[in-house]
Amino acid sequence: MATFIERLARMADTPNAVQTEGSTVPRRLVPQHIENLKAYQPGRPARHLMEELKLDKFIHLASNENSLGAPKSVQEAIVKAMAEMHRYPESGGFALREVLAETYRVKVDNVAIGSGSESIMANIIRAFLDINDEVVTSEGTFIGFYVLVNSQGSKLKQVPLKNYHFDLDAIADAVTDKTKLVYLCNPNNPTGTIFSRAEFESFIRKIPDHVLVLLDEAYFEFTMGTTEFPDSMTYRYDNVLTLRTFSKAYGMAGIRLGYGLGHDYLIGFVNKVKLPFEPNNLAQAAGIAALRDQDYLRQSLVNNDEGMKMITDEFTRLGMQYVPSHTNFVMVPYGSAEKVAALHEGLLRQGVAIRPLHAFGLPHCFRVTVGLPEENEAFIQALRRIA
Ligand SMILES: Cc1ncc(COP(=O)(O)O)c(C=O)c1O
Repeated sequence: MATFIERLARMADTPNAVQTEGSTVPRRLVPQHIENLKAYQPGRPARHLMEELKLDKFIHLASNENSLGAPKSVQEAIVKAMAEMHRYPESGGFALREVLAETYRVKVDNVAIGSGSESIMANIIRAFLDINDEVVTSEGTFIGFYVLVNSQGSKLKQVPLKNYHFDLDAIADAVTDKTKLVYLCNPNNPTGTIFSRAEFESFIRKIPDHVLVLLDEAYFEFTMGTTEFPDSMTYRYDNVLTLRTFSKAYGMAGIRLGYGLGHDYLIGFVNKVKLPFEPNNLAQAAGIAALRDQDYLRQSLVNNDEGMKMITDEFTRLGMQYVPSHTNFVMVPYGSAEKVAALHEGLLRQGVAIRPLHAFGLPHCFRVTVGLPEENEAFIQALRRIA
């Protein structure tokens, strides 16, 4: 009898069953909205750029990650959880949901968890949106949301930003009988701006109860101490769902862990459509350890405040305009798409990645993430050589 390896070798000799050219796959297999879908374009992997540009070091300030790295306590919890990685995770993720419920003084049934907050966003869209439903949000916000709505085939209505801020009055005015969901990102990626408590309170009074308000607060930790920030967990509206993440302030983007908070009736449906064993064992253990490590969170916020000051002070010295930020990144209107492209290229050649914002509909802007002090310094030095 042929060995496994021999069988593999034989398979490798047979013509590839998945044809790409001259495909006979019937076109109607793909729904129109999927055919039209513009996929999310991540930045190019650092190792490709390093090879291409012959660099031995690369500084990644393009993706709003946290350069401090994941807390030590989280790394230890992951190593411990590895002993159980041959088991499926506890379906329902109760241990982590209990700690989150305790943290926010809500019931476990008010908490959803997922492999990144984007996964919960996908579950919310899957659970509540039909093809004829309308979604209202802003231009110039998180691209992942646009991709998910478009992949559901629902109608996406985008209201222009007002001076790089969410225009809540215009968003409320855009709501119709067909609107099922409004997405607000506060603070907003990529502008770094917030809307205030007064703006939110006036907005929510205008929104009918049958409209779901999805409040994406991926960067809320960076607003701690900002009294005008309308922390959604200090309100109680039955039609508001909050999304938060461990990817930013907790430095855990690669482990993929986020959570959602809201009325148990709504959260029940989000959990119903979720893949049963997500997030994985290691991520769940990591989340519990992170929530208990408030020292790390403090350190992360201090690093961010200091780095933000260092970078924006330099912008001022260079006479560059920037949009004051409540996050771990800052957006700079830089004149034109051509100027942004030249700066991006010039920084890349010096081993520093920033994010040009053409894909966000802001082609004249770029965004830079706060890094470690030495990374911020390298960005500043590289910038001085070009700007
Ligand atoms: C506004 C916003 N929401 C959601 C996400 C996704 O976060 P996660 O890593 O939890 O999926 C991001 C990531 O950049 C983001 O900027």
